[in-house]
Amino acid sequence: MQEHLKRQAAEASIEYIQHYKILGVGTGSTVNHFIDLLEPIKDQFEGAVSSSEASTEKLLAIGIPILDLNSVGMLDVYVDGADEINSNLELIKGGGGALTREKIIAASSKVFICIADQSKLVSCLGKFPLPVEVIPMAQHYVTEKLTKLGGRPAYREGFITDNGNIILDIHELEINEPLKIEHSINNITGVVTVGLFAERSADVVLLASPEGTKTLSLGT
Ligand code: 5RP
Repeated sequence: MQEHLKRQAAEASIEYIQHYKILGVGTGSTVNHFIDLLEPIKDQFEGAVSSSEASTEKLLAIGIPILDLNSVGMLDVYVDGADEINSNLELIKGGGGALTREKIIAASSKVFICIADQSKLVSCLGKFPLPVEVIPMAQHYVTEKLTKLGGRPAYREGFITDNGNIILDIHELEINEPLKIEHSINNITGVVTVGLFAERSADVVLLASPEGTKTLSLGT
């Protein structure tokens, strides 16, 4: 059922990308459906900026060239999933560990379209453990700082990011003020990125349920 809803959300995003030649592409199982849906229309794209090695592999396999963000500059549109979404379209991302590149692409995109099934919508962010990418030698220092913030950071066993770093997942952190927490965590020395997307939230969320796909946006 959930896979079906993920695909439904991905299908709804296709109309938003039709007129663009270069896409920003996120990471995860919902995005995998999106990439599958690109295959029949791949010839209309010059290429994609990818947020992970996993998405790069999938995009290349269907014949979409990978472009370097530095040579593209600002992207028109970025499509990605999320682990949690609140009513302000602020997100937790990084369940797949690709948060840093995702954040860079989101910041470099004019429009960020988030695709998700209805289970991702929450009233308060933080039930899903908040991922933080950390420089390996700072693990102990950052763990102590995050504990002081009120959460319970856990080392993600056996996982190294595409950038060669580790992930600490913060459990039991109630995120009432996402922007403030995002800034506080980003300010800790040794933190590369926190998977809170409040400074750069989504512009549009396409939320799939058995009743249909809802479009959430702050402008409407
Ligand atoms: C990867 C992410 C994903 O977008 C997030 O984990 C959602 O994944 P899925 O679509 O598999 O539920 O942030 O770093």
